[in-house]
Amino acid sequence: MNMQPLEIVDPVPVTALSLSTRDAEMPFGIEEMFFSKTDKRGVINAFNSVFVRVSGFDGEDLQGAPHKILRHPDMPKAVFWLLWNGLQSGHPVGAYVKNKTKDGKYYWVFALAAPVEDGYFSVRIKPSSETYLRVVDLYKEIRAAELSEDLSAEESAQRLLLRLKQMGFPNYGWFQSTAFCTEFEARQSAMKLPQMSDVVNTKKVSLLSSDLRNELNALAREFDSAEILTANMKIFAAKLDHGRATINEIAKNYDLMLRDIQSHLRTLLAPPRAGGIWASPEEQKANFMLCGYHLLDEVVKDYTRENTQNGAEELHQIDVLRSGYKTQSAIAVDDCVKSALVIQRRIEFLLRMVLGLSTIRIACRVEAGALSQSASGLDTIIGRLDNFHDTIEARMVRIQDLVTCILQCIGKSGY
Ligand SMILES: Cc1cc2nc3c(=O)[nH]c(=O)nc-3n(C[C@H](O)[C@H](O)[C@H](O)COP(=O)(O)O)c2cc1C
Repeated sequence: MNMQPLEIVDPVPVTALSLSTRDAEMPFGIEEMFFSKTDKRGVINAFNSVFVRVSGFDGEDLQGAPHKILRHPDMPKAVFWLLWNGLQSGHPVGAYVKNKTKDGKYYWVFALAAPVEDGYFSVRIKPSSETYLRVVDLYKEIRAAELSEDLSAEESAQRLLLRLKQMGFPNYGWFQSTAFCTEFEARQSAMKLPQMSDVVNTKKVSLLSSDLRNELNALAREFDSAEILTANMKIFAAKLDHGRATINEIAKNYDLMLRDIQSHLRTLLAPPRAGGIWASPEEQKANFMLCGYHLLDEVVKDYTRENTQNGAEELHQIDVLRSGYKTQSAIAVDDCVKSALVIQRRIEFLLRMVLGLSTIRIACRVEAGALSQSASGLDTIIGRLDNFHDTIEARMVRIQDLVTCILQCIGKSGY
C-alpha cells in the first residue's frame, strides 16, 4: 500500500476517447474484490491491487485522488447523492456503480461503502444477478431524465426512489438490502461455492417475515370487512316484530368484540421503525449486515495477504467494521425473535377473543332458530359469519405456523 500523497490525476476526457474504447468493458473475475478507503471528502488514501489493475490507474494516480476520478458519464448523479446522504447520516450504503477506467473503458460493480473512524471504506464485487440487469436499464432512464429535464442531484434521487417504489422497494434501505444479498448469493453460485448457512437461514427468516406481515394485513382486512355483517344484522333486527331487542343486542355485542379485536390487531401492524430513505425491516437488515460481515471477512484475508508491513491501522478499522456488521446482524435477528414472540402471544390472546366472538355467533344462530317469523335473511348473515370465522381461524393458524417456522430458523442459524 503506497501511502505517499501524490498529485491528483484527471481522468481521460470522454471526448478524447474513440467510441470503441468507450464501449469496451474492462473484465475482471467474479471472485475478485476491490476495496478502497477515503477520507471524509472522498479522497482515496488506501486501495488494493485489484483496484489498480481494473481501473488502469497507477497506485500513484490513485493515492490522494478524489474518488470521482472513476466517474462514468452514464452514472446518474442521483446515485451519488444517495451514497453521500447515507454515508453522512452514518448508514452503510450499497449501490450499483458503473466506473470508468483510465483509458475510458467501463466496468460495473456493486459497492458496499460504510463510514469508518476517519473516512469511508468501500468494497466492491462484480454484479451478476437479475437485479443488476434491471438496474442497468433504470440508470439509463434516470440519467436521460437528469440530462433532458436538467434535474438536480436531489430531484433525480427522488425520481430514482419513486421508480424503486414502483419496482416494489418502499425505500432505498429496502432496495440496497435486497440487491446486496441477491448479489452476494449470485456471486457464491457463480464461484460454485455453497451458500453460507447463516445467510440461507436469515434469508428464510426474511421471506417468512414478509409472509407473516402479509398474513397479518390480510387478517386485519378480514376483520374490517366483517363490520358490514353486524350492520346487516342490525338492519334485519329493525324489521322484526318479535326478537328485535335480542338480535340487536347480539349484533351490538359482536360489534364491540370485533372492534376490540381490531384494535389489538392494529398494534401488530405497526410499520417497521421510522420511515425515510434508509429504513428497512429488521430481518432484511439482519441479512444485509450478515452478507457485509462475510464480504469483509474476505477483505481481511486479502488485506492480510497483500499488506505484510503497511496498513495495520486500516486492517484494524476493517476488523472493527466487520465486527460491527456481525453485531448489528445479531441485534436485528434478536429483534426478529422479539417481534415473533410478541405476535405469537398476541395471536394466542386473539384466538381466545375469537372464541368469545364465536359464542356470540352461536347465540345468534339459536335466536334465529327460535324466531317465529321467517329468518332466511338472518340465515344468510349467519352463513357469512360462519365463512368469516373459518377464514380468520385458518389465517390465525397460518400466522402461528409462520411464527413457529421463524423461531425454528433463527434457532438453527446459531445466534
Ligand atoms: C467510499 C466512497 C467510494 C466511492 N466510490 C466511487 C466510485 O467507485 N465511482 C464513482 O464515480 N464515485 C465514487 N464515489 C463518489 C465520488 O466521491 C463522487 O461523489 C462521484 O464520483 C460524483 O462526483 P461529482 O458529483 O463531482 O460528479 C465514492 C465515494 C465514497 C465516499
